[in-house]
Amino acid sequence: MTARILLLPGDGVGPEVVDAARRVLERASELWRLGLELESGLIGGAAMDMEGDPLPPSTVAACKAADAVLLGAVGGPRWSDPSSPVRPEQGLLRLRRDFDLFANLRPVRVFPSMVDRAPLRADLLSDVDILFVRELTGGIYFGARQEDDGSGEAHDTMTYRTSEVERIARVAFEAARRRRHRVTSVDKANVLASMRLWRRTIDRVAADYPEIGLEHVLVDACAMYLMQRPSGFDVVLAPNCFGDILSDEAATLAGSLGMLPSASIGHGNFGVYEPIHGSAPDIAGRGVANPTAAILSAALLLRHSLGRDDVARGIEEAVKASFASGLRTADVAGPNGRICSTDEFTGSVLDLLE
Ligand code: NAD
Ligand code: IPM
Ligand code: MN
Repeated sequence: MTARILLLPGDGVGPEVVDAARRVLERASELWRLGLELESGLIGGAAMDMEGDPLPPSTVAACKAADAVLLGAVGGPRWSDPSSPVRPEQGLLRLRRDFDLFANLRPVRVFPSMVDRAPLRADLLSDVDILFVRELTGGIYFGARQEDDGSGEAHDTMTYRTSEVERIARVAFEAARRRRHRVTSVDKANVLASMRLWRRTIDRVAADYPEIGLEHVLVDACAMYLMQRPSGFDVVLAPNCFGDILSDEAATLAGSLGMLPSASIGHGNFGVYEPIHGSAPDIAGRGVANPTAAILSAALLLRHSLGRDDVARGIEEAVKASFASGLRTADVAGPNGRICSTDEFTGSVLDLLE
């Protein structure tokens, strides 16, 4: 087997955690003879600096030539002037939209050795196994937008079409079939018209999946239930914006934003894999970022785009064993833990890979 993987490190801690994931992919490629060919490209602020465009044509072409993309993070204070018409985040949004990556899968699990690191009580965390299915190419992120042009008014529009809701609902129900047969659909149908269309459409799709239990939960209450009874969730199906927010909230269950990976996929095998966290400007450049989210994203890449569940599991087990050995980056170290660097943690994962 050979496969072409494009690395898009981006900004802030992006290059640090993508480098960690690259080392893991290279080792996995040797151990399992995967024949992975790794290349790098520009996205986000780094691409704006070099090419004046957060998603330059050369990067789009490299994505088209690749089987999958591993991305770090984009954005940072250097490019955050609210009056600037070009922003790093636009590169990421265009990538998702242009490649029709409408489904963002964000699995949330708690490693047994980490239950004491989360702010929630350990007894609430032991059985947590949630899959967020976040709609990624619609909703308020992509609806009609008007910047304030001096009139003192700006707007964003939350738009959903039935077909967009249907296809993401099918991703969620299919996933639930392979899991614990429950879907929690999140909306704000008590206020928003687009969310009433969302709920009606989900109900219609649910009729094709009589063996799956479906509950509708309003997003504000969902934010509370996630902290109150996190192990009660199986698949959580959410519109773009709510899925973004709730999955960051759920990162507290796993101990840190640095723990959670994601897969952005569409109809084919191609996908973009990235940590759910951002460029973490507050810790960038110091070699202390938690590389777990990026390494686990590489595992998702192998599973979803390359069909290598066996290798993905090998990587996930090596990460789990590294935490079990007591290694902790600063974000999950706790008051008395010994703190290791990005490099040390990655070295342990490499040593434990088999
Ligand atoms: P952030 O996710 O970058 O950071 C939030 C907090 O989590 C910070 O305290 C940070 O230090 C910590 N954190 C994040 N990743 C970590 C890691 N791997 N290890 C240890 N700690 C980690 O969110 P923010 O500060 O709100 O956003 C910063 C920039 O990142 C913004 O420009 C935003 O637009 C961008 N962003 C990009 C993506 C992406 O590229 N997918 C995602 C989210 C935010
Ligand atoms: C994420 C990020 C992005 C989003 C931003 C950077 C556009 O927060 O991937 O979760 O909101 O989707
Ligand atoms: Mn986010």
